[in-house]
Amino acid sequence: MSRDKTLIVANWKMNLNVGEASLYLHQLAKLVKSHRDVEVVLAPTALALQSLSLQVNSRQFKLAAQNFYWRDHGAFTGEISATQLRGVVQYALVGHSERRHIFHDSDKDIRAKVQAAVRNHIKPILCIGETAFERSEGETSDILHDQLVGGLANVTSEELEHVVIAYEPVWAIGTGKNATPADVVMAARAIRRQIKHLYGAGASEAIAVLYGGSVTADSAADYLAITEVDGLLVGGASLNAHDFNEIIKKAHKGSGVAKV
Ligand code: 13P
Repeated sequence: MSRDKTLIVANWKMNLNVGEASLYLHQLAKLVKSHRDVEVVLAPTALALQSLSLQVNSRQFKLAAQNFYWRDHGAFTGEISATQLRGVVQYALVGHSERRHIFHDSDKDIRAKVQAAVRNHIKPILCIGETAFERSEGETSDILHDQLVGGLANVTSEELEHVVIAYEPVWAIGTGKNATPADVVMAARAIRRQIKHLYGAGASEAIAVLYGGSVTADSAADYLAITEVDGLLVGGASLNAHDFNEIIKKAHKGSGVAKV
């Protein structure tokens, strides 16, 4: 994933039904002025992906899956594969903390999902981040290291070009307790250091790193101003098209937000 564009991703989680998702897309399409320097990605309920993929202007917005199973086909009742998502979505979240903590996705599952996404020409957004306890123990950079190594094992340098990393501290998700820009700078630097160690300086410079966790229209600019940060992964504040558009607006180069 090149860093030329700022990536703004809406993760609707288990919110908005198919009709609501369609209405939202209609509203957002009218509000958002497309800019070549911003890529807007919507991750709706899996139920709405097919219909939104027909409704969406793919030059204006991309779609993402929130989750999928890592096998391509077979007897896996209730699951959706990356092969089935191929052509419908351009991105997929992998390793979101709710998947790790509520549904017990292991590093092995996450690694297999990253592989499955890449194999099916879907860009994985690998989500990593420490819990409040791990943070209080001073383990943040160890956790980031372990989750990166765990998720990226088997990913080649060429494949890494299609991978996006999202730093989402668990304690900041849905809590209103967002990380400070200084926390995010530290984490993004730790991520790039680790990528450098694994893949070299070029890859570390090139990889897109997002921040997610209680981002609002008010806080978005502070994160987007960070040189090491290439975009945002937004939960609650993405559920309303007007609020989300306010965040998207901050990502345009002409918005007045300057990198520091
Ligand atoms: P909130 O923005 O609601 O904290 O959620 C963040 C998130 O988990 C995005 O994936």
